[in-house]
Amino acid sequence: MTLPKIPLAGVVGNPIAHSKSPRLHGYWLRQMRVPGHYVPIEVTPDKLMETLRFLPNIGFVGLNVTVPYKEKALAIADSVTDRATIIGAANTLNFRRDGKIHADNTDGYGFLQNIRQSVPDWDPRGGPAVVLGAGGASRAVVVTLLDAGVPEIRLTNRTRVRAEKMREDFGKRIKIVDWVQAGNVLDDATTVINTTSLGMTGKPEMRVPLDGLRPGTVVNDLVYAPLETRFLATARAQGCRVVDGLGMLLHQAVPGFERWFGFRPDVTPAVREAMLR
Ligand code: ATR
Repeated sequence: MTLPKIPLAGVVGNPIAHSKSPRLHGYWLRQMRVPGHYVPIEVTPDKLMETLRFLPNIGFVGLNVTVPYKEKALAIADSVTDRATIIGAANTLNFRRDGKIHADNTDGYGFLQNIRQSVPDWDPRGGPAVVLGAGGASRAVVVTLLDAGVPEIRLTNRTRVRAEKMREDFGKRIKIVDWVQAGNVLDDATTVINTTSLGMTGKPEMRVPLDGLRPGTVVNDLVYAPLETRFLATARAQGCRVVDGLGMLLHQAVPGFERWFGFRPDVTPAVREAMLR
């Protein structure tokens, strides 16, 4: 009698020790009693391609990809989803039976699901959004907001040319705002998102003046360590509806887990708790 193969998956990056994904997938595997393993994989840049090509041979069904390989993984893949192409990065790889690598990006999906779960009546079409930052995470957020029908995105970044590049890529609904002017475009925004690393443990604090924020505005920080950044605490004190960044991490993992292990996991208060322990 041959036993069924146990699917293997993991997350590839460098460094990888800090990644919360092994704990998250491990939690779901145990909780749902699904056979499978999910491991952290640290590789150097010169070994990325051969690692991705080799892993399917030993039972891997897919991988998450994290810093600094999200763009490289997209380039290596044999096929790519539209959303990964337009974002310009891959965070989820599926290894097909014929050994081909299919790349997707679920960061925008995770971002959207996180806000929807936290603020069920949030309507992205209801008014302008302000996006702070123009890095990789910002691209996923901006593509997703545009797709969800947001009428205008005020995009602001310390390095202005990165924001300008995004306007070229994503079109005229993007309005560039000078980084030093960011505090002046908040008062009629319905959604405000920090995609920069400012406020993260070990990084500088965000200094954008937030007194323009109106009560009821949905304010989301992609930073989740600490869970309540000063940005979110200030917004909360001004009556905004705040959404922390942990949920995005949890939701972006759902499509990969479902594809690799065959069951769709739920993002529950219990899994949030487990990730914070
Ligand atoms: P990620 O993929 O997580 O978005 P990234 O591409 O390195 O990472 O982008 C980091 C973002 O944080 C950028 O918008 C960056 O601004 P720059 O494009 O000017 O570098 C922003 N950021 C990082 N440190 C910052 C700081 N001290 N002040 C302002 N913005 C900062």
